[in-house]
Amino acid sequence: MIQNIKKRIFSGVQPSGNLHIGNFLGAIKQWVALQDEYDSIFSVVDYHAITVKYDPKILRKKIIEIAKIYIAGGIDYKKVIIFQQSDIRAHTELCWILNAVSARVSDLNKMTQFKDKAGEGNVNVGIGLYDYPVLMAADILLYNTDVVPVGDDQLQHVELARDLAKRFNHDYEKIFKIPEPKIMKQGARIMSLDNPEKKMSKSAESEFSRIGLLDEPELAIKKIMKATTDIGAKVKFNPKEKPGISNLLTIYSLLANIEIKKLEEKYANIMYGEFKKDLAETVAEFLNDFQKEYNKIDDKQIAEILTAGAKKAEPIAEETLMKVKRVIGVK
Ligand code: AMP
Ligand code: TRP
Repeated sequence: MIQNIKKRIFSGVQPSGNLHIGNFLGAIKQWVALQDEYDSIFSVVDYHAITVKYDPKILRKKIIEIAKIYIAGGIDYKKVIIFQQSDIRAHTELCWILNAVSARVSDLNKMTQFKDKAGEGNVNVGIGLYDYPVLMAADILLYNTDVVPVGDDQLQHVELARDLAKRFNHDYEKIFKIPEPKIMKQGARIMSLDNPEKKMSKSAESEFSRIGLLDEPELAIKKIMKATTDIGAKVKFNPKEKPGISNLLTIYSLLANIEIKKLEEKYANIMYGEFKKDLAETVAEFLNDFQKEYNKIDDKQIAEILTAGAKKAEPIAEETLMKVKRVIGVK
């Protein structure tokens, strides 16, 4: 009998806002690089997306859009499982069980993303936003996940998943595998174009802070040309002293697959303006290619891919959930 000896990865992106090159370089590009080596499951985590204000009229469209972005970005749906989180009830069910028996208020009070998103006072914030990391832990633990590739902002959440798994295993029986986070060294934190001290984010007010994967290439060129650079004129990688230029070098390096060192050599005696022009061209070319792939896929096909994905994922999730239900005493 041939044994499946590949390790499993699980990751997901929320169908909210517009995906930007930070999401692509920090998450999807990384998944593509891993999809052959690992048994891979990628989810469109829609139940996470409803934890902040959203528009129900466009959520469905966003779900389809994210799945399309996965595929246009190079995820091979024939090899990996792509599915919509809300299609599999085991996620919310395991979340509830973990809430009750493993997660503590003191764990969630430490979550920095909650503090950032909820802001001061946080009394008018939904319970779902607070509990978001436990749902994420359920996502990961249901699939006996070995490795969770994410951007570095998600590290604390993956660590919580590990802690909950260990606590559950200790208090009941050894059911859960302890997942390892995998953070890409380069690209884990693409910074905002107009404020390189902050990370590029879907929710920042200024459109000029990010490059959307579905931006018109012409607009992307303008955004790069307007990007904040630093004092001095040398194209040098030094995130502390030159956060703007270093961020642009990172983006350039990842999109063109050229080492930062090589780029520094190439632009050693060249002004920022010229460097930006070349980067803008690289970005526009990337967007052109990406969007060509994106536009090839039709929405109906995506709905079918998601349904087929859920069919494959569900038995794995159900098996874990059933074991959990047995050891907690309800089955
Ligand atoms: P989110 O936008 O929070 O749904 O994030 C989706 C994925 O993209 C997660 O794995 C994040 O860690 C990653 N990500 C988000 N923003 C960035 C960024 N500026 N740089 C690198 N990765 C990011
Ligand atoms: N919280 C993650 C983010 O915002 C998305 C996510 C939900 C996720 N469930 C997950 C990522 C499980 C990895 C594994 O990026």
